[in-house]
Amino acid sequence: MGAKVLAIANQKGGVGKTTTALTLGESLSRLSKKVLVVDLDPHANASVQLSYFPENVQHTAHDLFFDDANYSEVWNKIIKKREGLSFDFVPACIRLSELEVDLKERKHKGMILSNAIDEISEYYDYVLLDCPPHVGVLLVNAIVASSFVLIPIQTDFLALYGIRLLFDTIKMLNKVMPSPVRFRALPTMYDGRAGACRKILNLIRRKLGDRVFSTVIHIDTKFREACASGKVILDIDPRSRGSLEYMQLAREIIRNEDS
Ligand SMILES: Nc1ncnc2c1ncn2[C@@H]1O[C@H](COP(=O)(O)OP(=O)(O)OP(=O)(O)O)[C@@H](O)[C@H]1O
Ligand SMILES: [Mg+2]
Repeated sequence: MGAKVLAIANQKGGVGKTTTALTLGESLSRLSKKVLVVDLDPHANASVQLSYFPENVQHTAHDLFFDDANYSEVWNKIIKKREGLSFDFVPACIRLSELEVDLKERKHKGMILSNAIDEISEYYDYVLLDCPPHVGVLLVNAIVASSFVLIPIQTDFLALYGIRLLFDTIKMLNKVMPSPVRFRALPTMYDGRAGACRKILNLIRRKLGDRVFSTVIHIDTKFREACASGKVILDIDPRSRGSLEYMQLAREIIRNEDS
């Protein structure tokens, strides 16, 4: 059986996509799963956090979109493995932002990533795609390639506007895909002391029902600390609330798949 592919997506910026890609990647690895995290955001936040600075990295996720790409050769060049990092990683670069124009004439341009992942799927249990915060050819490629879309939703009022756009994209894709896009929402940056947060969480649960994870990620300053030191939260404090919650999310994802 091939890898489960999770597109971690939300058009709204700063909701915890990159944090989820890296921390869930680490959590699944700690549960003995073989994980690949792919940075698809031209801003390369995940890459920079792991010290793969775009100016120093020659081969990136962008290589997969070349016209004549031989996928297994390309994966060999772009997958980074290193001591101390428990999952494999593919960095991003700013040129990913030019794909919209570069792929204009390309046929089946929404299928490129899906076809590429088919080539390596057997080597991984999970492939996590850190998506950019806007609709475009990269997001479509990620959703088409995915087994399901994980949507981090910041538990504040404005966040609800953000997901409307994403649902529009999913609806649009559903019209052309052989089977409907599956998605699950992950409440993030939750502050249980704030009444507004609690209200929004209730609203999300009412609207989306069992398409919301049971796990809720609370606000935890350790995330920023980890980010600033180029690590994930589990490396700096595995007993912190944020660490325990991402481990719980990883278990929930593994369990869902078995049921
Ligand atoms: N649960 C949390 N508690 C506190 N801070 C968090 C939490 N999750 C993420 N953060 C912090 O919030 C900021 C934004 O998170 P992140 O970069 O993961 O969002 P994003 O959705 O990937 O943003 P973008 O859309 O810009 O790519 C980061 O500084 C991160 O460290
Ligand atoms: Mg990000």
